[in-house]
Amino acid sequence: MLDVRKTDSASGAPAEDFGKPPIYPLAAWQSAGRTLIPGKPIPPEEIPDYTIKRDDRTEIFAPALMARLKALNGFVKATGERLEGGIFYWHGDDAYHDSPPAPDLAPARRNLWRAVRFKNSMLEIGVNAGHSALLALSANPRLTYTGVDLGVHKYTDECVRYLAAEFPGRVRYIQGDSRQVLPELAANRSEWSFDLYHVDGGHTDDVCRADVGNCVRLAEGRRGKHLLLDDVNASWIFDVYCEFVAQGRLATETFFGDWEDVNRNVLARIL
Ligand SMILES: C[S@@+](CC[C@H](N)C(=O)[O-])C[C@H]1O[C@@H](n2cnc3c(N)ncnc32)[C@H](O)[C@@H]1O
Repeated sequence: MLDVRKTDSASGAPAEDFGKPPIYPLAAWQSAGRTLIPGKPIPPEEIPDYTIKRDDRTEIFAPALMARLKALNGFVKATGERLEGGIFYWHGDDAYHDSPPAPDLAPARRNLWRAVRFKNSMLEIGVNAGHSALLALSANPRLTYTGVDLGVHKYTDECVRYLAAEFPGRVRYIQGDSRQVLPELAANRSEWSFDLYHVDGGHTDDVCRADVGNCVRLAEGRRGKHLLLDDVNASWIFDVYCEFVAQGRLATETFFGDWEDVNRNVLARIL
């Protein structure tokens, strides 16, 4: 996550409660998202490990998710490396290990939930500490996950191995530069099928353009494919997104206003 926050530090659950599932109220600026009448109660065994309350969009984290997050954070801490930002913590948040998920990243997490919940197979560029992988796998128990990462962080490998053990048969990892890996996948398209692409890897406009273009090519000719692009708060990333929309290759998806437009991540149908 590229952090361009101002001084907004909405309060969250206290750090010492990290083991407990936190529940956050919405901050005033988190305005988007439809207000829905909740349906019939869901039996507890059918509630995914990450979901949101339909009436007020409160995040619900199962204890299993919190335990896994803590384990991932432990692998990061053990390397002594700084955590690169992601869906749970901002870049440069040195207190991540003892902290619950950043409250002001809740809209981005809810958007990821909106993007994955009816999908089957996700390809993510930018695994980092496996945080967005954990959220996606927790939000949708049917989802299989394939992650691509340069592997520049010492912790990524161990985080992925942990997730693969926690979610048997649902996690694949390809270490390498997405600009090489994705064309290789495209060359063997019959073996790879994804219905959701998450672009959250290299943050220069060149890498982003290559990643979006390669995802669009991988998805070509297939139905129901979506692309989730992160960090659209960076003007050069937003411009790449606009290029593809202008070329008629992507169309913004809002789920009739349910998507939270918080200048963070955007979802598009691949045309
Ligand atoms: C912002 S982090 C991803 C955060 C993660 N998606 C999350 O939300 O928890 C970016 C990751 O992209 C990886 N990366 C950067 N450039 C890349 C490239 N060209 N190919 C593959 N991975 C890349 C980095 O190694 C880093 O782990």
